[in-house]
Amino acid sequence: MILDSVKTKLAKYGQEHLLMYFDELSESEKTALLDQIDNLDMSCLEENSLSKDTGEIAPIEIMELKEITEKSDEFKKVGLSIIKEGKAAALMLAGGMGTRLGSDSAKGKFDIGVTKELFIFECQMNNLMDVVNEAGAWIHLFIMTSDKNNDETIEFFKEKNYFGYNPEFVHFFVQEKSPTTDKNGKILLEDKGVVSTSPNGNGGWLISLRKSGLDSIIEKNNIEWINVFAVDNVLQKMCDPVFIGATVMANCSMGSKVVRKTDPNERVGVMCLEDGRPSIVEYYDLSDEMRYAKNDKGEYEYYFGVILNYIFKYDALCKVDKCEMPFHVVEKAITCLDENGVSTKSDKPNGYKYETLVLDMIKSMDSCLPFEVVREREFAPIKNRYGTDSVDTARELLKQNGIKI
Ligand code: UTP
Repeated sequence: MILDSVKTKLAKYGQEHLLMYFDELSESEKTALLDQIDNLDMSCLEENSLSKDTGEIAPIEIMELKEITEKSDEFKKVGLSIIKEGKAAALMLAGGMGTRLGSDSAKGKFDIGVTKELFIFECQMNNLMDVVNEAGAWIHLFIMTSDKNNDETIEFFKEKNYFGYNPEFVHFFVQEKSPTTDKNGKILLEDKGVVSTSPNGNGGWLISLRKSGLDSIIEKNNIEWINVFAVDNVLQKMCDPVFIGATVMANCSMGSKVVRKTDPNERVGVMCLEDGRPSIVEYYDLSDEMRYAKNDKGEYEYYFGVILNYIFKYDALCKVDKCEMPFHVVEKAITCLDENGVSTKSDKPNGYKYETLVLDMIKSMDSCLPFEVVREREFAPIKNRYGTDSVDTARELLKQNGIKI
């Protein structure tokens, strides 16, 4: 029965070749392959599923440091009362592959300490703990992992005693996957009975959270705000009461922390309006015209970069599952079977992975508060081992902020 429905699904997407070695498989391998195909979301292969051309871009108003400093007490009061009432939660994106860092295990397990151990996960938990201590209330933390790093991540948290956090408030869920394809859009096989897949990008968090059933915790506890943040910025201030308060008081559906770019060419996505709605233009899509555009005061118009720290009103997110999250196609070196059925490792990009991005969620929000933060205090991303945005630069910034490493 399942064989028939799998064949129908494969025919719909033009992927019948995935069963080319079916007769060579053992009974259990056959069942596993059919189950995998049956459960695999192939919507990335549908026409119209890819990211579209951008609309009309215009500058967005930023809440800058001066105003934030002046109103900080007021914002903080509002933010703290929301946290105390249990209406804010944090959601850590930790499903990435960390390819650039070159570590085979979960990025959060990376030890960036010099004179003592200091893991990336530990930095995040310490930062969240600061808010818990200030508010005097635990905050629910959802952690999105991938099927590749889920078990080791959970084990690590247990082994480290949740870095002093209350385990009842920590919830792990696994992110969904997308198939990988060759450059003609044909899904690749990792093995004769295994389809090649990769995590479906950080925009997959909402769908994956719902599939895991953990959204019931949000509903049961009347959580109103979700702060989504990347695992790899060790100075990340999540559930920041000032940020929450400012977004609530501005009556926005979401807020986005931004930093002033170091120069027009810095490789960060910039906040803007697209067809009148909040949006982000990724650095690789930024035209020179936008990059150097200046306003009447002689200031760059698109000069505030996002740092992957967003708060979303949960209600407003309910619209997102109706609006399609487009897939972005990323070239990748994928280990897969060659035409002779032999597993082959490629050292240059030989296919595509398909990712949805959290920044596309922003386009479906009615309003967004871009909230400036001091880069040296809140932005220390670890993407590479050395050089820009690396372990070395993050260590330096941690030291500058008085954190023992
Ligand atoms: P990056 O885009 O920097 O990717 O992720 P990465 O996987 O960490 O690193 P590279 O590109 O392979 O070197 C930004 C954030 O989004 C999360 C990452 O864990 C990180 O917190 N992410 C990324 C996911 O949770 N899932 C994904 O599929 C991709």
